[in-house]
Amino acid sequence: MDIAYLADHKEVIPTLARWFYQEWAYLHPDRTPEDVARLIGERTNTTKIPVALVAFEGGELLGTVCLKVHDMDTRLDLTPWLAGLYVAAPWRRKGIGTALVSAIEKKARELQVEKLYLFTPESEGFYSRLGWHVYERTEYHGYPATIMEKKIIL
Ligand SMILES: CC(C)(COP(=O)(O)OP(=O)(O)OC[C@H]1O[C@@H](n2cnc3c(N)ncnc32)[C@H](O)[C@@H]1OP(=O)(O)O)[C@@H](O)C(=O)NCCC(=O)NCCS
Repeated sequence: MDIAYLADHKEVIPTLARWFYQEWAYLHPDRTPEDVARLIGERTNTTKIPVALVAFEGGELLGTVCLKVHDMDTRLDLTPWLAGLYVAAPWRRKGIGTALVSAIEKKARELQVEKLYLFTPESEGFYSRLGWHVYERTEYHGYPATIMEKKIIL
């Protein structure tokens, strides 16, 4: 598996937009698929946030993850965020999600980020096993969400 910058693979943005729209449209009912693609297109930096990574195997897109300045419009006090972690369904449970989290944490460390946040509707257990801790259990747009944190520079 290769992990690269989205900046170097902009051709996959429409696929990512389709994945994200199917997975998370319920959290952002006001966003169109075009909005989602535009927001993903903003993550094409390599030396500053927002930055996204993409994983490939033999040219096939497996998954993605990113760093964002803000992720919850209700929690602008917390920054920055790990967000948009997604592994294509046929490729799940093979360690790709774990590898993407590890790669984006490394990128955050390079960017001198001391602490990262994320929120997840249902994957608290997954992140706990990767050393993330619950910051707050809350709601987001009417759905339960857990905000988690991890110290990146110890
Ligand atoms: C969550 C997700 C990124 C995990 O990716 P993955 O490549 O399957 O992850 P890994 O293979 O590295 O690790 C999977 C392990 O985590 C566990 N896991 C996966 N999702 C989990 C969840 N929601 N809660 C608890 N554990 C979970 C699996 O049981 C598996 O453990 P096992 O190998 O012992 O069976 C993937 O399922 C996905 O893209 N889901 C849809 C989008 C999503 O939920 N994104 C994250 C939410 S913010």
